[in-house]
Amino acid sequence: MAHRRDGPQLRAHIVGWGKAIPERVLTNDDLAALVDTSDEWIRKRTGIAERRIAGEGETTFTLALQAAQAALDVADMDPAHVELVIVATVTPDHAFPATACLLQNALGANRAAAFDLSAGCSGFVYAMSVAAGMLMSGMYRNALIVGAETLSRIVDWTDRGTCILFGDGAGAVVLQASDAPGGILASVLGADGSGGDLLILPAGGSAQPASAETVEARLHFARMDGRQVFRFATRIMPEATRQVLEKAGLSIEDVHLFIPHQANDRILQSAAKGLGVPPQRMFSNLKFYGNTSAASIPIALCEAIEQDLIKRGDVIVCVGFGAGLTWAASVIRWSLPLPPPTPSRRMTLWRTIRYRWAQMRSFWRRLWRRMDARLFKIFYDRNHGP
Ligand code: ACO
Repeated sequence: MAHRRDGPQLRAHIVGWGKAIPERVLTNDDLAALVDTSDEWIRKRTGIAERRIAGEGETTFTLALQAAQAALDVADMDPAHVELVIVATVTPDHAFPATACLLQNALGANRAAAFDLSAGCSGFVYAMSVAAGMLMSGMYRNALIVGAETLSRIVDWTDRGTCILFGDGAGAVVLQASDAPGGILASVLGADGSGGDLLILPAGGSAQPASAETVEARLHFARMDGRQVFRFATRIMPEATRQVLEKAGLSIEDVHLFIPHQANDRILQSAAKGLGVPPQRMFSNLKFYGNTSAASIPIALCEAIEQDLIKRGDVIVCVGFGAGLTWAASVIRWSLPLPPPTPSRRMTLWRTIRYRWAQMRSFWRRLWRRMDARLFKIFYDRNHGP
């Protein structure tokens, strides 16, 4: 639905945020019982102490739904007003339909377009930039952006080079277009497909469809050249940060907080050194969650807000890198007062009703489709013969 194409410049503002973290904790000691590693090695080389693992029945979609509902609560928004849903993920519930469509259906966001975006760990910033562009053009007014992953489902639990790094989780933001100053000031997106093989899920796509052989060869698990990815990350994080700040007409000194992709503490320290900023200005929660890919930046953003590290008017840089290879950075001037106002009771009740209604609507639509197909067959057979 087009909203406005002329008049004052529209900007995309973050008006809601939420996260979902599975309950199950996997510590470094737990991992040491699975592969030849140690708590000391993992902490020293990565900064990770533990990560969260999705439980039975938890999927990328269920985590995305929890995070999205939390974000809509903060925005105090009727899900029916969401016009765009993007889920950034490399671990969708299915190759198709998109996890974003499952989410759109469960939220009762009936007027929303929905699609998944695959850009590895840069996915959330990619998705936020795509949505911001659509909001600023006047195409939509409200968008829901989610980064959600269940990497534990594609991690090779016999490979100590990768299984120590990854965890599960989801984070979401609600973006809203308005004339108010601030919001997303600039974004930089990049890709270098020549490095595609450095971080890859080899089988399950059209190049190597699933077969007994691909399963036998463990090709349905993520593979990574850790050293090469490390070198790429330490170069691209400061580079993308500088580029996006230049685009926004700001300098490193203007930035109150960096929210980097949580991959490895040594990468964060190297980025801080490269940018000449004290490490405490690089937000880190890596210790508790490991690398949650596209979910890491929105989860970190939520926790930075919870820890009172952001206030109205602050400049924040979100910067990520990942499979593809890809990289992405956004500069945001925080425009909302914090803490956010308590959601209204009326709207909270309305959202609860809408989620229930969405469940029922989905059930009836499925049932109706089945009945409709039967009726059509009976009618067709009667007129044309079976
Ligand atoms: N426990 C103990 N020893 C280990 C482990 C482990 N878990 N993993 C590797 N080692 C050993 C290696 O076998 C090697 O031994 P060797 O010297 O006898 O051959 C030694 O430790 C050093 O190995 P390196 O690979 O050089 O270790 P490094 O210091 O580079 O750390 C790591 C490895 C943590 C994977 C690091 O390279 C890294 O963080 N890379 C970036 C990964 C990343 O960010 N990936 C996410 C990308 S984003 C996305 O899209 C998902």
